[in-house]
Amino acid sequence: MPPAPRQALQRAEQLRKELHDHDYRYYVLAEPAIADEQYDRLMRELQDLETEYPVLRSPDSPTQRVGGEPTKEFRTVTHDPPMLSLANTYSEEDIRDFDRRVRELIGEGNPLYVAELKFDGIAIALKYRDGALVQGATRGDGTQGDDITNNLRTVRSVPLVLRTKVKALMNIEVRGEAFMNRKDFDAMNAGRSAAGEKVFINPRNATAGTLKMQDPKVVASRPIQMYAYFLLGPGKGLTRHSSNLETLRALGFPVNSNSKVCRTIDEVIEFWKRWEQKRDSLPYDIDGIVVKVDSLLQQETLGTIAKSPRWAVAFKFASRKAQTRLKGIALQVGRVGTVTPVAELEPVFVGGTTVSRATLHNIDYIRELDLRIGDAVVVEKGGDVIPKVSGMVPSLRPKGTAPYVMPASCPACGSRIYREEGEANYFCENAECPAQVQGRIEHFAHRGAMDIEGLGEAAVETLVSLKLVRNVADLYSLAGRKKTLVALERWGEKSTGNLLEAIARSRTQPFRRVLFGLGIRHVGSGVAKVLAESFSSIDTLAEATEEELHLTPQVGPKIAESIVHFFADKHNREIVRRLKEAGLSMTGAARSKEGRLNGKTFVLTGTLSSYTREEAGHLIEENGGKVVSSVSSNTAYLLAGEDAGSKLAKARGLGIAIISEEEFTRLIR
Ligand code: IVH
Repeated sequence: MPPAPRQALQRAEQLRKELHDHDYRYYVLAEPAIADEQYDRLMRELQDLETEYPVLRSPDSPTQRVGGEPTKEFRTVTHDPPMLSLANTYSEEDIRDFDRRVRELIGEGNPLYVAELKFDGIAIALKYRDGALVQGATRGDGTQGDDITNNLRTVRSVPLVLRTKVKALMNIEVRGEAFMNRKDFDAMNAGRSAAGEKVFINPRNATAGTLKMQDPKVVASRPIQMYAYFLLGPGKGLTRHSSNLETLRALGFPVNSNSKVCRTIDEVIEFWKRWEQKRDSLPYDIDGIVVKVDSLLQQETLGTIAKSPRWAVAFKFASRKAQTRLKGIALQVGRVGTVTPVAELEPVFVGGTTVSRATLHNIDYIRELDLRIGDAVVVEKGGDVIPKVSGMVPSLRPKGTAPYVMPASCPACGSRIYREEGEANYFCENAECPAQVQGRIEHFAHRGAMDIEGLGEAAVETLVSLKLVRNVADLYSLAGRKKTLVALERWGEKSTGNLLEAIARSRTQPFRRVLFGLGIRHVGSGVAKVLAESFSSIDTLAEATEEELHLTPQVGPKIAESIVHFFADKHNREIVRRLKEAGLSMTGAARSKEGRLNGKTFVLTGTLSSYTREEAGHLIEENGGKVVSSVSSNTAYLLAGEDAGSKLAKARGLGIAIISEEEFTRLIR
């Protein structure tokens, strides 16, 4: 290999340092310092340099996060010391016992405890030599695990190089938890389901499955994160677990900020109670807290029995799992015709409520869990509070059960249901299916779309069953049927009047809401907004080809295909024509061009009192303006609320117009 000129070497080193730094800011601190495009530019420059001079390539280069080749079989690594597991406690009484034992064994003095969240993920071990990541492994049986270095390298919050110059800290092992945020998990599952792929049961399961994949490129595409909670190796000098957590943070690891040093076991119990209450407010799942003796000297005195340390314990929350019986499987038909199987359960009390139904996603999920009607099943409530069937108890399967077979026809209209090659979901082929019509109208009317007050499930059901409404365009001719409506049971003059008024008012909703309300498959509110900004009217959108749609941000092949498919349908075109005739907004950019904030860039800062930031943002955009996150000479206005800080100072410095909420309100009226 030819040596690289000194200049190239220096530049590569600098780029690596900068990129590591940006990864750290973005993935660990969640405070990005540069725009994605800038990051990509730096990355490309480094890639080019490394291609030109392959000697520059090193395993800890940011370019190598996804560089690894697929692994056929993972090498086995030995954990020294072993990766211990924790004894479980479940009650105040248990934890007081733990405290008593600790006190007995350490003799005089009061132990300090560190209370941490117990992440419901997968334990990992990371080994660093000379400050660079050299090995990443699973826990396995605690003594031996799998070498999954190439997979863990792809996790952006795992540092490839340590942020330290201290010699003693360059050769360490760090243990922690890999996990996925619920939101990322749900989005990933939604994508998989739409693409006809198997959905994962929960974030933990998905993380475990992902870390064992052979191709690091696939791992890189999955939203795995980590928290570090254990530092091993630098030998002397370490005294407290709590300061080790600080050290880990300084080395560049993500360390959860919710840990707490507790002086008494009562404080520990309070921490446990508080997090049991607040667990759902976290973006990831936890299943309890971990209590650790802070002093490493005391930890040593306490030692380890069998596979668990005596200086730490898991203090679990009440289980949100329960066992019950699967009485039947019902089919639900959604607005685009998707047929979703739903478990009908013997009612069971779990995580604070009684559960009698839970989604089963699709037929593959049923097959994967091998669920049969009559089975004893495990119902689990994750942090998203939506109950899930997460397993089946084989030993309790009654005699004479049979694998579930998808019915041949739609439960709502009797039409044939079908599944396309490669799709996970079955569809009802009848676009006029009452279940679909009902779903489409509810979607059109709901708050995020046209926001028609009073048009909820029950009202839609009445209108659809009496054939007063067959599609969303029919809503705008309901005014002519007022007499019929008033005569309906429980409707009356007043509520009918209110509903008709709400429908009439919805005519002024902006184009992006109309577009979202149409319920085009895969077009959520975010995509609808982008489309409304990129296409001047519904007609230009309807005529766009897949290639043209592709050029729009956020629009991938699946969305593009779905949009073209939607507008190719005669019925859909007729509905759009009638909506236009009814006076709904069907133009995007053109409309906002007339806005009084046209082309003006806003920055928001401080706490607003009469709007949420999101609302203020929408108002600005609806009036043709734009919101950006940082102040520059291009900023037209800084909207400053209470306690505005550095942005205010910067705007003052640049001589930018600073407006209050009242002034803002006047500006948009
Ligand atoms: S400490 C001896 N801290 O819980 C130290 N573990 O059975 C053992 N876990 O396998 C680990 N959050 O995967 C520790 N803050 C935390 C944790 C945590 C989750 C997991 C870990 C371990 C299991 C204990």
